[in-house]
Order: sequence, then C-alpha cells, then structure tokens
Amino acid sequence: MTTWTSDQMGPRLGEPVDDLETPVLLADVDAMERNIREYAAVADEHDVELRSHVKTHKNAALAAREVELTGDTGICCQTLGEVETMARNGIDDVYLSYQVVGESKLDRLCWLDGKVDALATTVDSVATVDALAAAAERNDRTLHAVLEVDMGLNRTGVAPDEAAELARRIADADALAFDGLLAYDAHVKSEASTEQEFEERAWAAMELAQEVVDDIEAAGIEVPEVKVGGTATSRYSARHPVVTEINPGMYPFNDVGELELRPWEVSKDDCTATVLTTVISVPDDDRLVVDGGSKTFSLDKPQLPVPKHRDDIEYVNASEEHGWIDTSESEASFEVGDRLEFIVPTSVRRSTCTT
Ligand SMILES: Cc1ncc(COP(=O)(O)O)c(C=O)c1O
Repeated sequence: MTTWTSDQMGPRLGEPVDDLETPVLLADVDAMERNIREYAAVADEHDVELRSHVKTHKNAALAAREVELTGDTGICCQTLGEVETMARNGIDDVYLSYQVVGESKLDRLCWLDGKVDALATTVDSVATVDALAAAAERNDRTLHAVLEVDMGLNRTGVAPDEAAELARRIADADALAFDGLLAYDAHVKSEASTEQEFEERAWAAMELAQEVVDDIEAAGIEVPEVKVGGTATSRYSARHPVVTEINPGMYPFNDVGELELRPWEVSKDDCTATVLTTVISVPDDDRLVVDGGSKTFSLDKPQLPVPKHRDDIEYVNASEEHGWIDTSESEASFEVGDRLEFIVPTSVRRSTCTT
C-alpha cells in the first residue's frame, strides 16, 4: 500500500501562486496587516483597547500577529475549542464571548483558566451565572465574568433593564469577578446603510449601554469594561466614551458582506481572503464553470462570491463543487485552465480547531 504524505499532497510553503492547485484559499498578508493596523489606529484614536475576535480564522499564528499589532490586549474567542487552541499556542489573555453551558465544558474552562494569564467568559442569565460560580468553586478558582446585554440583536444577552440585578448576582458570587459588559452592537448592521446612519445608530446603541452602566454603578457595582463588536460597527461605537474595548473579527480579511455594507470605506483591495479557482468548462460564450462551488466558498448565506480583479463577469450560482459564472457582459474570451480569483462571501471557515 502506498503511504501518502503531506509532501505529495496540497500546497507547499513558498510555492508560486500560479503553480498552486485550485480551488485554493489565498490571503494577501500585506493587505491583511494594513487592515489590522488601520483598526489599531482607530482604537488608539478613541482610546479603547482592540481585542481581535479570532472566530473568523481560528488560527493561532495569525492571532499572535494580531496581538502584536494591536498592542498586546489579548484575543476574543467564540468556542471553548478556540480558547484551547489559542492557549495551547501561547496566547495568554483570552475573552470567551459566549455562554459556556454544561458541567464538563465548565470544568474544561476552569482548567484552561489555569493555563493562561487572563481568562474571562460571558454570562447572561441566572442559570449561566450560577453554573459558572458553582464550577469556579468546584475547581477552586476565581472566574472572570462579563455580562452580555442585548443591545437589539435579539440573540443572546440579558434585557437592559434587568442587567443591574444580574450584575449584583455576579458581584455577590464569591468565586466570580465582575469584569463588566459585553454590548455587542451588530443589530446596527441591519438598521444602517449609510455612513451617517452607522454613526447615529451606533451612538444610540452606546447611549443605551451607558444607561445600563449607570444603573449598575448606581447599585454600587463598578463596571470596569464595556466590550463591543464587530468589524462594521466597532469603529463607530468606539467613538462613545462608554466603550473600553472593541472586538472586531472579520477585519483583517473583510468579505463580500463588508464590501456591500460599507462601500464608502471597504474596497476590493481591502478584501484580503480570496479563493483562486480554475475554469473547468466553457460551455458557451455567455457562461463558464469554475472549480469553486458551495463547499469551497462555504455558501451558507444568500450571498455569492465576487470577482476580485474584474467587474465584467458574475458568479451567479453554485453546486457543491461547481461555480457558474455569467460572462455575457464580458468582451474577454475564456478558456479551460484560466484562473479566476473571488472574494469570499462570508467568514473564512478554514479551521485549525478540532472542536
Ligand atoms: C460577541 C461578538 N463580538 C465580536 C464579533 C466579531 O464580529 P465581526 O466578525 O463582524 O467583526 C462577533 C461575531 O459574531 C461576536 O459574536
């Protein structure tokens, strides 16, 4: 039986792009770093910390680079598996912006708490506060808890007018330390479509966050941090003095979503994660097919890839391993073997995590 090794399969480090087998995910590292530095400058300008969310890439080497470029403020994760991957690879300051539920996961969280310098997690209910406190006691640790408040996304988070009561419960738990609030502001993305609307809606959301902080402080509990997301909103929300930290995730890459949402500040040049494909069939003058379909692009949203370097063709449909390209508006002629590069439609899913 032949043994297949990685030397014989897949891309090799340093291999020229033109020689890579397709479909293949590309990252423009220089442009990616430029994006990271741009957000670091926004954070500096508004005197907030930038803690990058790694859920988009789940890659510890990139996370370490983000930490380096954003002033050593640690990273943000969405799963326990991500926390584990980051901790194992030397990232020692982690915020998990997600509720951990279930005894075995909570025990794993406590174990991870002993592996890093700083770890905080998220709660938004009596159930999650009490279970976190019980796990901390069971494992003889003090766990840092951030209270998530629902700013209008209607996903997770306690209602703003119930936040002070829950903050009191956290503050009163001997094995918990109250770190402040997660005020994730992503609902602004569906309310705003111009720069001015982004400014106004993000400000309104942060005014609500300020009211919640005032309520909690009126109850005699200090609110050290107010964390807000994401790539589209954090550069606007950061302008409000209530914010102490922004957690954008997608921002090194951008994607079709960001490109379409904020055309005044995101261009194709800022979209750094692309998939290089090869034309496998040219059935007629108006249509061709590439080797990147719904599996390659992880098409789980009603959004399609956009050509990175040209505007004369359109990705119009996908099956699992085929991408349909409409070429009816193009003057160019295409041949089997031509290469076409597309901006990814949603978050990059390439994962280094197993859980
Ligand atoms: C709580 C939280 N913070 C930050 C982010 C990062 O958002 P984005 O990838 O849009 O930058 C997310 C993404 O879902 C999130 O859930």
